[in-house]
Amino acid sequence: MIYAVGIGPGKREGMTGEALEAIKKSDVIVGYKTYIDFIKELIKDKEVISNGMKQEVDRVKKAVEISKTGRTVALISSGDAGVYGMAGLVLEYSDGEDVKIISGVTASTAAAAVLGAPLMHDFCHISLSDLLTSLDLIYKRINLASEGDFIICIYNPRSKGRPDYLKKAFEIMKNHKSGTTPVGIVKNAGRENQEIRVCTIDTIDYEYVDMLSIVIVGNSSTYVKDNKIITKRGYDKKY
Ligand SMILES: C[S@@+](CC[C@H](N)C(=O)[O-])C[C@H]1O[C@@H](n2cnc3c(N)ncnc32)[C@H](O)[C@@H]1O
Repeated sequence: MIYAVGIGPGKREGMTGEALEAIKKSDVIVGYKTYIDFIKELIKDKEVISNGMKQEVDRVKKAVEISKTGRTVALISSGDAGVYGMAGLVLEYSDGEDVKIISGVTASTAAAAVLGAPLMHDFCHISLSDLLTSLDLIYKRINLASEGDFIICIYNPRSKGRPDYLKKAFEIMKNHKSGTTPVGIVKNAGRENQEIRVCTIDTIDYEYVDMLSIVIVGNSSTYVKDNKIITKRGYDKKY
């Protein structure tokens, strides 16, 4: 059996019971070392195989290999295993093994909860990482999602190698969204060192944003009340 486990944002309280159970049942834990650190208290008695970024395919092959020896493997992702995580790869590379995907709390909903209620209407996830997706397609999606008045959750918003993509994405959003649209930035959502900033499309400080952050940009019904971001669902017009 291979479990593709989403461990949530980081703290044990943010994990589902199902994720805890899958880890408990596993003999071997395979994952990116930063995420393995989040669960180190839970896996003291397990064999652990961890490696670095950009080694996702190696990790999956290793998990499949181990499961062929009859041992149960947990392949760890942060957040939800099926949102920019390992779930897809393990299904692609498995070869008759039993695979179970264990969902988790993804960064967007973890961040939304601490910002208020920004995802009350149609929203989308867009990653600004162009490692596996062309930048042209990423910007096209930013443009069309803005034109469609989606709330946009931006994953992988800014790194040392890509310092300017977020600014460019905001310039594109301004074609369709007002400069006063509320924006929430959450760094390390659901972890000990969580930080929150609420600003607007016009006032965002790009330098503050890093790879440990998620950026949520509202739609035309999003507003701020008592420093909480709220997207109206439309009840006031209906009733
Ligand atoms: C490769 S994606 C992994 C997403 C993960 N599978 C999930 O469902 O949350 C990594 C990006 O997710 C976002 N992210 C993941 N965990 C986060 C957290 N606790 N706080 C803020 N952003 C987070 C960041 O934008 C980061 O660059």
